[in-house]
Amino acid sequence: MRWEHEGGLRVEAARMRDALPVLALHRDVLAEQDWFITLSEEFTAGLDDVGERIRRYAAAENCLFLVARLPRVQVAGFLVVHGGQLSRMRHTGKLEVMVAKGQRGRGIGRALLAACVEWAEASPVVMKLGLSVFASNARAIALYEELGFEKEGRRPREYRMADGTYRDDLLLYRFTPSSS
Ligand SMILES: CC(C)(COP(=O)(O)OP(=O)(O)OC[C@H]1O[C@@H](n2cnc3c(N)ncnc32)[C@H](O)[C@@H]1OP(=O)(O)O)[C@@H](O)C(=O)NCCC(=O)NCCS
Repeated sequence: MRWEHEGGLRVEAARMRDALPVLALHRDVLAEQDWFITLSEEFTAGLDDVGERIRRYAAAENCLFLVARLPRVQVAGFLVVHGGQLSRMRHTGKLEVMVAKGQRGRGIGRALLAACVEWAEASPVVMKLGLSVFASNARAIALYEELGFEKEGRRPREYRMADGTYRDDLLLYRFTPSSS
């Protein structure tokens, strides 16, 4: 599994040696506080957890762990699909994607998502990708919709921010293959 793009951008399955840069990137993105519900101090995953997830997801039919690389950047972004564990949910995968702040807006997120969609379209198991995003995250939503994701629902005031304001949660999905 490997996708090559212009400018040396490469998307491929994560390897064990990616655990440290993936963890660092994840911590950095959470520290921005704008995109995910988990606060930095609530994020408890360590290096072993990330390594274990990379190993487990490589072996699971309905899970995916992709990294995006640039010529001098081991991990510029990553995407994870958490496949459903219960037998009635094995056909579903919940998606999460993040790109390093300094690398955004140059096609990395799109490349990761396109690779994920291609993987899911070819998968004999995964029939539905889903995700949850702050309704205020216009950049991410525009990208998901370009890749064929549709709105599934909206949970008003699902999250309460430290400043007392609320965020709606937007649920998006994409059937794979898209026709079934
Ligand atoms: C959302 C995210 C993954 C997108 O990745 P990216 O590498 O920045 O996106 P790309 O460069 O591939 O851009 C793809 C599309 O995003 C949108 N986009 C990118 N930069 C944008 C900007 N500055 N303003 C508005 N839209 C923008 C455009 O629709 C763009 O399409 P185009 O190439 O036709 O212009 C990335 O910005 C990110 O990690 N954000 C923080 C974490 C996050 O929000 N994750 C998703 C939470 S569910």
